Amino acid sequence: MRKITVVGAGNVGATAAQRLAELELAREIVMVDVADGIPQGKALDQWESAPVEGFDSRVTGATSYDAAAGSGIFIVTAGIARKPGMSRDDLLKTNAGIVRSVCTEIARVAPDAIIIMVSNPLDVMCHVAMEASGFPKERVIGMAGVLDTARYRSFIALELDCSVKDIQALVLGGHGDTMVPLASYTSVSGIPLSQLLPQDRIDALVARTRSGGAEIVAHLKTGSAYYAPSSAAVQMAEAIVRDHRRILPCAAYLEGEYGQEGIFLGVPCKLGEGGLLQILEVELTDAEQEALQKSADAVRETMAALS
Ligand code: NAI
Ligand code: 2OP
Repeated sequence: MRKITVVGAGNVGATAAQRLAELELAREIVMVDVADGIPQGKALDQWESAPVEGFDSRVTGATSYDAAAGSGIFIVTAGIARKPGMSRDDLLKTNAGIVRSVCTEIARVAPDAIIIMVSNPLDVMCHVAMEASGFPKERVIGMAGVLDTARYRSFIALELDCSVKDIQALVLGGHGDTMVPLASYTSVSGIPLSQLLPQDRIDALVARTRSGGAEIVAHLKTGSAYYAPSSAAVQMAEAIVRDHRRILPCAAYLEGEYGQEGIFLGVPCKLGEGGLLQILEVELTDAEQEALQKSADAVRETMAALS
């Protein structure tokens, strides 16, 4: 790919840019941010790591979207964190305004691009991005499920003291407390998790996964997670650039799948050249279907707060 742009050169964005460059996923990696000097300085610092790391992707930074013209993929991480005195709704409206302006610019400079949305609240920001860009659902995909599933897999590996590579899992639903880790689709080298752990331990791992983001915030105090989130967003970009056709849990626009209409929700997606190639509908138990419905209701509530 000729160019990939990361919007927002903060913790997630800058870490994602470095990972994109190290994987040489595009000839040029651009960071765009409103804070003049930050994208330029971080990009130059990253480019100066190229001789040591051995990558040839040029990393540049800018405040203008002209630098991003013609990008094939945009990873959008622009937004603000909640400040004292600010309600959840204030934050929602502020970030929606930011994402709207960012995606309008993306459509102007790169009308054929694919947007990988990261900014929170994730599922609703995907909706804002689709409306503002006018892009079809194949080209607006949200990152949350890969991160939530990675957290779940990492906790299972700790519990079983085994390689993370052998753990397959699936976390669906919205990116929040109502996410739905599917115990019935969790296995270790094909062995169902239920044969390796008692139900109370599985429940504890599911609960830890649901509050995985908050656990990191409680440690950091001044910010949220960014190493695992950037890895997750870049894995999605890699699947698209290299046409891997990977099946990853992503936030996708649903038109009837899983009984949901007109919202973004985390579901198994096939990603490859062109973006979202297919949404896979898997069988759910009644309890899982109910949990997914609850998660969809939570996303709709946030959507309603925005309007
Ligand atoms: P950060 O505060 O480190 O970086 C945000 C950056 O956005 C800042 O550099 C800021 O200057 C920039 N920005 C603000 N308004 C902008 C605009 N109009 N145009 C371009 N850039 C703009 O935050 P961090 O930790 O990088 O997180 C970024 C976003 O990603 C947050 O909304 C966070 O909640 C979300 N997030 C989502 C995850 C997910 O699973 N979907 C996981 C981790 C973070
Ligand atoms: C996370 O899950 C804050 O959404 C972010 O870490």
